[in-house]
Amino acid sequence: MSAPPRLTLALPKGRVMEQSLEVLRAAGLRLDTGGGARALRYDAGDATIIEMRNADVPTYVELGVADAGVVGKDVLLESGSQLVEPVDLGFAACRLSLIRPRGATGTVQRVASKYPRLTGDYLRRVGSGAEVVKLSGNVELACVSGLADAVVDVVQTGATLVANDLEEVDVLLRSSARFVVNRAALKLKHETLRPLIEALRGLPGSF
Ligand code: PRP
Repeated sequence: MSAPPRLTLALPKGRVMEQSLEVLRAAGLRLDTGGGARALRYDAGDATIIEMRNADVPTYVELGVADAGVVGKDVLLESGSQLVEPVDLGFAACRLSLIRPRGATGTVQRVASKYPRLTGDYLRRVGSGAEVVKLSGNVELACVSGLADAVVDVVQTGATLVANDLEEVDVLLRSSARFVVNRAALKLKHETLRPLIEALRGLPGSF
């Protein structure tokens, strides 16, 4: 009998990486840490891990370079990728919110964000004609510096808002980490993926 097919998993660098490895191990995969601090691709026991910026995870999974991965719902929606999303892993919970300087009034004319698609959808929904400016990080600085009169960004603890005298004025969506799967891989590697998905669903905090 042949061994079940091996997976390649796309995981985001940084805070979410350790939590992703933890839940995958709890679901029964034997995964070693490592390959060295700068390794981008390494064999980690039961799977091959490829590491990337979170915004690139949907692309690697959609194009089939990775069979599955872990990514925030906010990033997944922004990507527009049509992936199978069988498990909400529950961690990395945050809100994607419209943020303004505390006490600001008046019409919003320019909104900066790393999420231009979701920001544009939101502005159309609320009937605003504000312009969207795409930034890559430290997005709250746009409000603080006057580049924009509002930003759409992630709020997790709220500490960044407090430190910069900003306030959350609307919530666009609630996000958390999702296990995402390539559609073809779900069929071709079902022997490996089905039990993994079931085990991930059964973990405390997942649904
Ligand atoms: C994220 C987000 C906010 C901050 C919110 O930034 O963009 O700036 O965390 O978290 P808080 O509510 O707990 O303060 P991150 O450091 O992930 O990266 P970025 O600044 O490059 O967007």
